Amino acid sequence: MKNVLCDMFNIEIPIFAFSHCRDVVVEVSKAGGLGVFGMARENPRKLHESLDWIDRNIQGKPYGIDILMPTKYHSGPKAHDELTLPKRHVEFIKKILDDAGVPSISEAEAEQAAKENLESVNMTREDSMRMLKIAVEHPISLIVNALGSPPRELVEEAHSRGIKIAALAGTVKHAIKHRDAGCDMIMAVGTEAGGHTGKISSMVLWPAVVDAVAPVPVLGGGGVGRGRQVAAALALGCEGVWCGSIWLKTVQSDVPPAVKERMFNATHEDTVHTASFTGKMGRLLRNSYTDAWDRPDAPEILPPPLQRYIWEVAARRRVERVRAAEFWGYPVGQIVGDMKEEISVREVVRGMIEELLDTKDKFEQLIR
Ligand SMILES: Cc1cc2nc3c(=O)[nH]c(=O)nc-3n(C[C@H](O)[C@H](O)[C@H](O)COP(=O)(O)O)c2cc1C
Repeated sequence: MKNVLCDMFNIEIPIFAFSHCRDVVVEVSKAGGLGVFGMARENPRKLHESLDWIDRNIQGKPYGIDILMPTKYHSGPKAHDELTLPKRHVEFIKKILDDAGVPSISEAEAEQAAKENLESVNMTREDSMRMLKIAVEHPISLIVNALGSPPRELVEEAHSRGIKIAALAGTVKHAIKHRDAGCDMIMAVGTEAGGHTGKISSMVLWPAVVDAVAPVPVLGGGGVGRGRQVAAALALGCEGVWCGSIWLKTVQSDVPPAVKERMFNATHEDTVHTASFTGKMGRLLRNSYTDAWDRPDAPEILPPPLQRYIWEVAARRRVERVRAAEFWGYPVGQIVGDMKEEISVREVVRGMIEELLDTKDKFEQLIR
């Protein structure tokens, strides 16, 4: 394909892939799209290793990184020995797991787990800036900012290094803010999406954002997992697509097998739009953890990153230890209902391209 984004990033097809999994990032870029590595689960040491690994394996193809920088968040201590999470919240989740028979763990193991888990949650501006310092030392082509407009210093720093900058928007208002902040590209993300997302559907949001920020190119995100959905995004004025969920089903993804199995058995209706996982509204595979926060006796949801810390400190190790998949909080979009089998990243990309070409042929026959 040839369009403004293929030229901007020197890629063959404007399929942009969000993933926390370095193997997926590398495979998408090698298949002709652009892999974007989510840094939210890294810590500085791990990030160095991950980016070095990407550099060694990506065969010189372009890639990007993604940071979570919410505009509003609770800025307090993160170190486990200083952190005081509300007792009521921690006890609530402990009781939910106890009642479901999820084995408890010793205090020493809980302490250790909390320490390790908190290190790999990066949801504040300070966390993100720390990770960015490391990332810009690598040959990245793109920085994506989730949950707000990138600060002016970040835009200037990126541009001075020849790196493009983009941000996710769930409303026209946010998209305009990103354009005014100097973004080179905007991801219009509909409510269908996995992860943080707003309330407006892709069908309505994409063309509205395209019109509002023109000539800044827009990627259509939220519900894109096949070629006809890519065609829809292009038909609605987007220059490319932004996909996250579809990679979870691939051979290369690091989704735990028990969770993958739940995804393969899920229908379009099995996701939930909730703030219970991170403190910001997002879409996850519905599970007993998300259901618990809807109970009348559940405590109020805390602001980010505290709500996420509750999961990390009170639940994650217990759930992972026995692979209690019914409690495993995993972001995924509504296309989970179409994700039925494990295939490679390359096959996903090839399938998208073939179906896009079929759609083009159909249109050519249909509209003369
Ligand atoms: C497992 C998962 C984790 C995500 N984590 C992030 C994240 O850390 N940062 C971010 O910008 N977006 C994140 N997202 C959202 C994606 O960037 C993207 O907007 C979304 O996946 C697009 O919709 P789709 O899921 O229907 O493909 C995540 C999505 C998924 C599925």
